[in-house]
Parts: sequence; structure tokens; C-alpha cells
Amino acid sequence: MITSPKPVIDTFTEGDRHRVVTLWGECGLTRAWNDPDKDIDRKVADSPWGFLVLRLGNAIIGSAMFGYDGHRGSVNYLSVHPAHRGKGYARLLMEHGEALLLARGCPKINLLVRTGNEQVIGLYGQLGYVPDEVVELGKRLIKDD
Ligand SMILES: CC(C)(COP(=O)(O)OP(=O)(O)OC[C@H]1O[C@@H](n2cnc3c(N)ncnc32)[C@H](O)[C@@H]1OP(=O)(O)O)[C@@H](O)C(=O)NCCC(=O)NCCS
Repeated sequence: MITSPKPVIDTFTEGDRHRVVTLWGECGLTRAWNDPDKDIDRKVADSPWGFLVLRLGNAIIGSAMFGYDGHRGSVNYLSVHPAHRGKGYARLLMEHGEALLLARGCPKINLLVRTGNEQVIGLYGQLGYVPDEVVELGKRLIKDD
């Protein structure tokens, strides 16, 4: 009997860079004002433990970037390749990242959903995330473009 390989969650390594940036592009996550290579450099320098990839053979079919500032955890770049969606892989990545954060004593995760991507709120709802009564403010410290 031939069984198809199962994807495995792993920590990002430098050799993954090109495939991860391609995945983010295919998932519509890249923006002109965020250079993905610079984001990867910053993540690897700051908290490489939280940079997860989902490997299927030699391919990278998913990713997520978790972080923790001592008060709240965060997740960015949650992505699953369009050909592999609806199989629970985003849930797998999220549950793995949550376990990493919990092991660090992180009490809560806050995440952002871009305006125009509201359909993803349904997925986060399935994973136990609810809207918070907050106003989100931001200030750019480094211009990537
Ligand atoms: C969002 C994304 C990561 C989901 O990946 P996925 O592997 O298809 O998601 P999963 O199969 O793990 O779905 C997890 C759960 O959410 C549910 N779900 C998925 N999309 C949903 C939606 N739009 N509305 C409601 N529920 C949804 C699934 O049914 C599943 O529930 P279950 O585990 O109880 O059956 C993927 O669509 C993607 O890469 N999108 C583009 C990038 C993006 O928008 N990222 C989020 C940035 S905030």
C-alpha cells in the first residue's frame, strides 16, 4: 500500500528562505511596505524558536511566526499553500505555536487581521479566538521600501 507523506512542523532554517517568501506571495501576505527578507532576518535575529514551517517532503506548504514580549504572544504570517487548505494544517500550526508560547509562560495571544481579510476571522473563531475591545494603533520605526 502506498501512503502519502504527512507534513511535519519544523523550525525555519536559512535554506527555507526562498520557499517561504514564495509561499507568502502565493498566500497574498506580502505587502510593498514589508520586505519579507528583512522580516525573516529580524525574526531569525530575535526569536527563531517561533518561526515555524510546515514541510511536506522538500516543499514548504505552511508557515507561522510566533513571538512573545513577556506580556502577550503574537502570531504573524499564518499561511497554508492554496493546494493544501481545508485539511487542518493552519490549526496544526496554531496549536503547535500556542504550545510553544505556553511553555514560555505566555498568558495570552493577540493577533491582527488585515481589513479586507475578515473571512479568516471565522477560522480564528474555530480556534478559540474572539474579538477584543481594543483600538489598534501602529507606528512604523523602520521603512522597508
Ligand atoms: C487562513 C489559512 C491559513 C487557513 O488554512 P487551512 O489549513 O485551510 O485552515 P484549517 O484547515 O486548519 O482550518 C482550521 C479550522 O478553521 C475552519 N475554517 C477555515 N477557514 C474558515 C473560514 N473562512 N471561516 C470559518 N471557519 C474556517 C476550518 O473549518 C477548520 O475548522 P475545524 O478544525 O474545526 O474543522 C489559509 O486559508 C491561508 O493561508 N490564507 C491566506 C493567508 C491568510 O489570510 N492568513 C491569515 C492572516 S491573519
